[in-house]
Amino acid sequence: MVLTKLFIGIDLGTSAVKLSLVDEKGTIVKEVSREYPLYFPQPGWSEQEPADWWKACLYGIKELLAGVDASAVAGIGCGGQMHGLVVLDENDNVIRRAILWNDGRTQEEVDYLNNEIGKARLSELTANIAFAGFTAPKILWMRKNEPENFARIKKIMLPKDYINYRLTGVHCCDYSDASGMLLLDVQHKRWSKEMLEICGVSEAQMPKLFESFEVVGTLNPEVAEFLGLGPDVKVVAGAGDNAAAAVGTGVVGNGGCNISLGTSGTLFISSDKFGVDPNNALHAFAHADGEWHLMGCMLSAASCNKWFCDEILKTNDYAAEQTLITESMLGRNHVFFLPYLMGERSPINDVNARGTFTGITMDTSRADLVQAVLEGVAFAIRDSFEVARSLGIEIQRSWICGGGAKSPLWRKIFANVLGIPLDMVQTEQGPGYGGAMLAMVGCGVYPSVEAAAGALVKLANTTEPDPALTARYEEQYQKYRKIYPALKSVFPEIQ
Ligand code: XUL
Repeated sequence: MVLTKLFIGIDLGTSAVKLSLVDEKGTIVKEVSREYPLYFPQPGWSEQEPADWWKACLYGIKELLAGVDASAVAGIGCGGQMHGLVVLDENDNVIRRAILWNDGRTQEEVDYLNNEIGKARLSELTANIAFAGFTAPKILWMRKNEPENFARIKKIMLPKDYINYRLTGVHCCDYSDASGMLLLDVQHKRWSKEMLEICGVSEAQMPKLFESFEVVGTLNPEVAEFLGLGPDVKVVAGAGDNAAAAVGTGVVGNGGCNISLGTSGTLFISSDKFGVDPNNALHAFAHADGEWHLMGCMLSAASCNKWFCDEILKTNDYAAEQTLITESMLGRNHVFFLPYLMGERSPINDVNARGTFTGITMDTSRADLVQAVLEGVAFAIRDSFEVARSLGIEIQRSWICGGGAKSPLWRKIFANVLGIPLDMVQTEQGPGYGGAMLAMVGCGVYPSVEAAAGALVKLANTTEPDPALTARYEEQYQKYRKIYPALKSVFPEIQ
């Protein structure tokens, strides 16, 4: 009897790590999730402890494998939160907490890079400009504000690369995640010597680069023993979570689109050609299939609904809140919500932007506010959708994934705000499933990421837009888009 091989997909998210055990036919055998704390030491700052990620992964994998024939496990692949700065000293100790993708402390460094080095030069060197969440401005921030820490840096890495390092001992990174550091010459897939120099770091401090589906190494013997796995289990380089999620929804090759509705919200467009948005409003990054993508990223997406329900309404029954929103209320809300709870990245690039409710009256209900939050997130993704449209990219339909996409109401709002059908996959594990697929390619089960996607990704359902509702949401969007420009100059004054 031929034993079916098993693969572990790791989704190293911002609120939790989600682990999936997947067989080579793509069936999810088991899932485990472990949360870890997120620290906001100052308004707009966002940090995590790499040791918490590692502990959650290690014990989470142990739990995942309980009762499973571990000898069937052939490979591991990780999709991880992007851009976070992890620094190790010469003894491999983490020097300080990781500074995350949604941290907004680096305005000064972003201004220096975009204005002194200049956006045109940055774009020539890296295909992108500086955004507060990117890694290079964080390195500059550390150099200026924590010179003792900066002087101790032996290795620089991204969040999932820390996990791969602990698993294998190999200091590695893949091209999709490295693209978000602003240190990679994305087009030529090599570190930009000039950018490294600007940040005061050397290539020796940087990880070795791989394609996402390439094997970087096998398990450290002590880790293998602890997990009850063979030391020959292969670990692939993995990908940034958005590229991994796109693999998980089959958005590979040319012209596919995926919307991810997690803590962040992203619009991800795959391409077989390298291309840069002339205004750099969309990121131009490498993809996990060996090709390219354009991406718009909003910093607070499903997290807006989580915040509003958890912190303000004091409920964790999100579905119950949404049942108060009736069909006739859709596209007719008089309340608008700007979802800028952590400032905003795409397309406005403004760390000072803040969340607002606009249009509240005495008859505004709890349901109107919940609805405004769901709609505000959809309108903000529409902003990136409009940038893509202005580049001549016509998105006819899209996949949608992430925790927020589980809500049929939110999917309906998105489908009508964007005016396109939205498809959901049967396996909605996003980055974790994509990570497992990359491991299958690395272990030779499938010859390419495209082949894996063709064999494994299956449609679960489609949310079609309704022409009358789309027309109402078009009017609503035109009102929404006037609010941020009207408030932009006020935000820095109210910090
Ligand atoms: C993408 C980005 C976020 C994080 C979330 O540029 O910053 O989507 O990857 O984990």
